Amino acid sequence: MVIDAQSLAGKRILLGVTGSISAYKSALLVRLFVKAGAEVRVIMTEAASHFIPALTLSTLSHNEVLSSFERAEGGLWNNHVELGLWADLMVIAPATAQTLASAANGLCPNLLLATYLSARCPVVWCPAMDLDMYAHPATVQNLERLQSFGNHVIEAESGELASGLSGQGRLAEPEHILDWVRHFFNVASSKAPTVGLNQDLVGKTVMITAGPTHEAIDPVRFIGNHSTGKMGIAMADAATHLGARVILVLGPTHLRPQSEKVSVILVQSAQDMLAACQQYAHEAHVCIFAAAVADYRVATVAEQKIKKQSGEDFAITLVQNPDIAKTIGNTKRSDQVMIGFALETENLLAYAQGKLRAKNMDMIVLNDAKQQGAGFGADTNIVTFVTENGSTELPLLPKSEVANAILDFASRLLNTKLATQLETHTLPQLLVL
Ligand code: C5P
Repeated sequence: MVIDAQSLAGKRILLGVTGSISAYKSALLVRLFVKAGAEVRVIMTEAASHFIPALTLSTLSHNEVLSSFERAEGGLWNNHVELGLWADLMVIAPATAQTLASAANGLCPNLLLATYLSARCPVVWCPAMDLDMYAHPATVQNLERLQSFGNHVIEAESGELASGLSGQGRLAEPEHILDWVRHFFNVASSKAPTVGLNQDLVGKTVMITAGPTHEAIDPVRFIGNHSTGKMGIAMADAATHLGARVILVLGPTHLRPQSEKVSVILVQSAQDMLAACQQYAHEAHVCIFAAAVADYRVATVAEQKIKKQSGEDFAITLVQNPDIAKTIGNTKRSDQVMIGFALETENLLAYAQGKLRAKNMDMIVLNDAKQQGAGFGADTNIVTFVTENGSTELPLLPKSEVANAILDFASRLLNTKLATQLETHTLPQLLVL
């Protein structure tokens, strides 16, 4: 593997190593991080030291390896808070079922877990265990819980396991972990701010549409689609972390944002969604249209449940719904940023550029419906940002990272627009503003 010696230059990585047979791979991981220019510090659990000597990891990382709160000599204390603040990223590889369960439940029986709990940096878990342990609902739930805290997970890989069984449970290969980390810093951290630390949207209002719409046929039936609202909800959560006041206009879905700070306006139909957007859009500095709005609704909704007529076909007349993004886009002021989405199967860029203009958006986030890992219900997305200046393709990323990248674009453009406004106003004009 060829490693660009500068790709992690200046980055501080805190590697947590726990007691799995795959702990031997952490030596290679340290070597790869150091070769890529990162500064690496290692914390290991007592159990990990049965699988790999601390001396190997301290030699490769050029730093002392820590494993307990107290130092052997001098009775000094290893400050877990300091370590957690020092790091740009905490990587736990390998992470055993025991450590995952402790972290998911806030337990801190050792230095590694205490550091995890006090770390303010992003955290990525790289689990390693036997296939049945990995598939057990307890492990699955623990990983989901950690993700719900905003942590990342690099899934275990499939292959031969130490038990002699074969299946999913192997620690991700160190090269794959390095790739993930490089992408993370390139896309998520340098293009988008780190959630929780950057406050770029303080004092700003962000309005987001998300989820499907349901268009009633009669009191018990509707026309809908498979949207879950995940992408829009991820953006709502990410925007609150950046300090924004967030209004989420949400179609019918069982998902909700994690942050209680998000104001959720629940709607059913496209017409309801438009009405809510019209109520809030003028207050918003950033409007993001992520909803999968039904293009058509039923011309006349039956007041009573429609009864089947035996042997007869049944036709419904549909009329076009309003285009919410276009309607609000047409009212866009020079101090507002508006972003739409496009899910296409062909002529991707051309269609996205058409929508950019037709809906008066500043950016279209383009999804290729045919790509694996993108689209409805998935936790990941592969998107291309399309603006009037061209297009930028992002790699496969968790929806939370895509959300950060979109908001980073929005806050940068908003700042530019606001600065331009200030420049074009003369001093007397500013005094009366
Ligand atoms: O034209 P198309 O449906 O592909 O455009 C997708 C974009 O327009 C998305 O941002 C979607 O939320 C928005 N849209 C809307 N109202 C509609 C249809 C689409 O806001 N009726």
